[in-house]
Amino acid sequence: MYQTLLTDLQDGIFTITINRPDKLNALNKDVIADLGKALNEVYNNAEIKTAIITGAGEKSFVAGADISEFTSLDANGGSTLAKQGQDNVFDKIENCPKPVVAAVNGFSLGGGCELAMACHFRLASENAKFGQPEVNLGLIPGYGGTQRLTQLIGKGKAMELMMTADMIGADEAKALGLVNYVVPQAELLSKTKEILQKIQTKAPLAITKVISCVNDAAKGEKDGFLNEIKRFGECFATEDMKEGTGAFLEKRKAIFKGK
Ligand code: COA
Repeated sequence: MYQTLLTDLQDGIFTITINRPDKLNALNKDVIADLGKALNEVYNNAEIKTAIITGAGEKSFVAGADISEFTSLDANGGSTLAKQGQDNVFDKIENCPKPVVAAVNGFSLGGGCELAMACHFRLASENAKFGQPEVNLGLIPGYGGTQRLTQLIGKGKAMELMMTADMIGADEAKALGLVNYVVPQAELLSKTKEILQKIQTKAPLAITKVISCVNDAAKGEKDGFLNEIKRFGECFATEDMKEGTGAFLEKRKAIFKGK
């Protein structure tokens, strides 16, 4: 079904593996199209509760947009590439009602760093390297990097990384808040799945509302507090809220249905 991705659905966790290891999993048009389709699957398949995005091999998560596809583009072509990518993949990940987490298994550069940052949070293997090296190519990030890197690590450090094109290692990425955990490569997927399994025991509709409200805060939406009030209220109309509060009062474990 996918030319450039491997997918696997187990215990509600949909693992999407970008599979162009000979090109360090660079994002060409086919990968972007396949990722768009895979995200539609995440949105629409009720058996998928959470998703992981990772890269094939042990060297690279994604080493950027495919530079070989840039040579034929003019100004319109460049902005169309960025807009379509943002609409069909990057923003779709950020706004996904189900948790999408990046398991960063190596180079996470340019569009790769942007892909990881569009995810709701990130884990990295010890060999992971992050950077936005676009200025080396006479470019700037086009898949949301100028915005999301600034949201995640703050203006000064984001400016420095995007101006110098420097790469940082996994430990520095963790210190900056870009990734939540650094683990040995062999444990990357198991640790990611362990966290997602825990999330899957919680009330799914509430998780969706957390994503919406936290995204508002990260984007500096002025109505984030209003969104929280509205979503908080909506929780009271769900069966899961009655189950969760009832289970607490009855001293038993809640079983959520996503209703
Ligand atoms: N686009 C297209 N092809 C890419 C690529 C990209 N972003 N990143 C790596 N590749 C290809 C290389 O061209 C090479 O292909 P080839 O074997 O057909 O020559 C293959 O992937 C392996 O990469 P290579 O550069 O030989 O590996 P390395 O270990 O020497 O260096 C990197 C690794 C990540 C430092 C280096 O590949 C690199 O700088 N990539 C570009 C990063 C970048 O600028 N990304 C932002 C794009 S906007």
